[in-house]
Order: sequence, then C-alpha cells, then structure tokens
Amino acid sequence: MAEPVPVVTIDGPSGSGKGTVAAEVARRLGWRILDSGALYRLVGLAARRAGVDFADAEALARLAAGLPVRFDDGRIFLDGEEVTLAIRTETAGNDASRVAALPEVRQALLRWQRDYARPPGLVADGRDMGTVVFPRAPVKIFLDASARERARRRYKQLKEQGIDVNLSDLVAEIEERDRRDRNRSVAPLRPAEDALVIDSTDLSVEEVVEQVLQAVRRKLPAAGAGER
Ligand code: DC
Repeated sequence: MAEPVPVVTIDGPSGSGKGTVAAEVARRLGWRILDSGALYRLVGLAARRAGVDFADAEALARLAAGLPVRFDDGRIFLDGEEVTLAIRTETAGNDASRVAALPEVRQALLRWQRDYARPPGLVADGRDMGTVVFPRAPVKIFLDASARERARRRYKQLKEQGIDVNLSDLVAEIEERDRRDRNRSVAPLRPAEDALVIDSTDLSVEEVVEQVLQAVRRKLPAAGAGER
C-alpha cells in the first residue's frame, strides 16, 4: 500500500493567526495548503448571491457539493469571477460560520477537503482538521490567542485591505462567532486530544512557525529534513 500522505493540521479560532502560520509552514516544507475556511466562506457568498435561504440546509449542501470554484496561485474564482477579497469581509465570515453549523454542508465539503492530501504533504488550516477531516494526521496543532488580541490582528489585516471596521464591533463579532463555532453540535471548535496547543497571544508569527516545525521534525523527521 502507498505511504499515507503526511498532514499537519492547524485548527483554532478566527484571528489566531492560523492562516499566516499555515502558509509559512507549507512554504517551508514545500507542501500544499488547504484553507478550509475559504470553502465555507465561498458557500456563504454563493448562497447570498444566489438568494438561497440560510435555513435551507439541503439547498446549501447542494450548492457546497457543486461549488464552481477555482483556486489559482492564491487567487480564488467563483463562477469565473474573482472573489479573493469578497470572501474576506466580516459579512462573508459570519455567513460562513452560519453555513458551517449545518451538518449537510460539512458533509458535502468533506471529500473535497480530504482530496487535498496529495504528496509531498498537506498543511490543513481550519476548525476541525485534526478532529474530523484528518483524524489520523501525525502532527496536530491548536492555535489560540485572547479574543482582544485576535480582534486587534483582524482589525490590522482588514485595514491593510482597505476595509473599514470598528475595533469594538470586531471584538463583539469575534466573540459571537467563537461562541457559535465552539457550541455547535457538529464538529465544534476544540483541540483534538492529541493536539499541541499553542497560545500565540504573546508570540510572533516566526516563533509560532518554529514551534510547529519543531513538532514536524519530531514526528516526521523525513519531512523536516526537506525544509527550505
Ligand atoms: O477561518 P475562517 O475565519 O476563514 O473561517 C470562516 C468560518 O468557517 C468560521 O467561522 C468557521 C467556519 N469553519 C469551519 O466551521 N470549519 C472549518 N474547517 C473552517 C472554517
């Protein structure tokens, strides 16, 4: 039987720095990356654009199963139209969190996500990568940070993209989204039992990346040896 493709899962709440850390770890290892949050954001955006009722789980799952999406060198296209920035708004984030609470939608995206695991390896970023999608991943990370620090980071990120937001609104929205992600009955946000929990509140991106790579070197010495 072929060797299983090595997977590093990085889960955590929004604004914990998962995306940045996952991208840098993937770059250093020369592996592929799965931004699973983008898939939920795409379903939310497609649903809003098509006027699909957010309470209609079946229709949303159908949309998720046949999403006309294309990933191209960091850019994302929905039905041929670039939506790289459109899926990053707070509205899109909230819509994503709502559709992500539906088991039918999660199921529709499951095979698609697992399909990303191809050689030489995958870094998968999300909420349930270590608990549901890749439960056998040899390296699992749960990245956390205080809600205030996460809101501050998101604020800076959105400002840089020219999106105008209010910091205290952002703290409230982040807390609300966390509450929904942690309390939903299907695939709630929580560390896998065998996850390494890293609190990034007082750490730089580089320090977190180094901790993740140390875990990779420990568990997957061959992958660590190929580092860039
Ligand atoms: O990581 P993000 O902010 O782009 O994710 C957007 C929403 O999608 C988030 O509120 C929760 C949901 N999500 C999820 O339920 N499971 C994942 N694996 C990734 C994201």
